[in-house]
Amino acid sequence: MDKQSNLIQHFQTEGTVVSVAPLGAGHINDSFLVRTSETDKPDYLLQRINHHIFKDVELLQNNILHVTNHIRKKLIEKGEQDIDRKTLTIIPAKDGKLFYFDGENYWRVYLFIQKGKSYDAITPELAFSAGKAFGEFQSWLADIPEKIYETIPDFHNMEFRLEQFHDAIANNSAGRVGDSLKIIKEIESRAEEMTQVERMGREGKIPKRINHCDTKVNNVLFDEEGKVLCVVDLDTVMPGYVVSDFGDFIRTGANTGAEDDANLDNVSVNMDIYTSYAKGYLGTARSFLKPIEIELLPFGARLLTYMQTVRFFTDYLNGDTYYKIHFPEHNLQRTKAQLKLLTDLEDKADQMQEVIKEFRV
Ligand SMILES: Nc1ncnc2c1ncn2[C@@H]1O[C@H](COP(=O)(O)OP(=O)(O)OP(=O)(O)O)[C@@H](O)[C@H]1O
Ligand SMILES: [Mg+2]
Repeated sequence: MDKQSNLIQHFQTEGTVVSVAPLGAGHINDSFLVRTSETDKPDYLLQRINHHIFKDVELLQNNILHVTNHIRKKLIEKGEQDIDRKTLTIIPAKDGKLFYFDGENYWRVYLFIQKGKSYDAITPELAFSAGKAFGEFQSWLADIPEKIYETIPDFHNMEFRLEQFHDAIANNSAGRVGDSLKIIKEIESRAEEMTQVERMGREGKIPKRINHCDTKVNNVLFDEEGKVLCVVDLDTVMPGYVVSDFGDFIRTGANTGAEDDANLDNVSVNMDIYTSYAKGYLGTARSFLKPIEIELLPFGARLLTYMQTVRFFTDYLNGDTYYKIHFPEHNLQRTKAQLKLLTDLEDKADQMQEVIKEFRV
């Protein structure tokens, strides 16, 4: 029996395992589809948790259990059918824990969602559905009674990301600061504006809610007819400002170019995708959002793009220690591409706000 088949024995699964096969090419976790022979028994998804990124696995798994149980309750209240395909379901280990540690790696098991499809390429229709799904996800979690913890501390905290940037300049460990003054200036000139969300939070003007924090289209599962089944990839679900979740979808989904595009002319915000996502998102989220949170949504797109600019550039100044690079100046190229997207988002700010006005009521 191979390693993964051995591992599955440690969980409270039903049925006879007939195969364990790698599933997709996850960037963060390694996933395996576990098939059982009986037609009336479920199949499972076995995942190796990336504990270098998620250091407290117990806290991580507790978060996911609370979140999925709460969503399940909402689905039951709504009278939904086929609930096992509309939320993730954790299968505990035989000792009752929500994970299994093999001495080296941490593993978890979910029910496998049959015939779920995820998409890497975006269309306006998918953006609309994803917006609805992430808005609904946030609305369901708006009244979760359990405390949800930060699985990556300060993940979307702009003040913290700027501190890391300033440390990188002070240390100048790769000797790159001297040639980088123009970009440093671009970043510094926006720092005050970009930390406003943190200040507004401290002043009690905007609340922290439960965010997904990895709002990409491939983290939404669709059924065969193209209807949303559920939101997956719950590792980064944590408290935050909703503008972050909105902004990260636009940053990753509404870019006409690549995140690291060498040709900056390719990079701009796709207003069709933006409009579709905003329409879908506000359809499910406007009922619980405060007016100020709605007004800040276009800013969220700029904020998350700026945050990623700062993170890529910080890594460049540090000598490429965090992000995998494929050529020597990769982090610089990524920085420039994000900065280009940011300036386009700035140019279209009024237009983006008009779209929000249209869908806010
Ligand atoms: N319970 C499930 N049942 C069926 N398919 C699933 C399930 N959970 C995840 N998937 C599929 O596997 C893919 C990878 O899962 P997940 O997003 O959790 O891993 P990841 O390593 O974080 O991936 P990535 O880095 O690409 O976001 C998802 O995009 C989805 O298509
Ligand atoms: Mg994923």
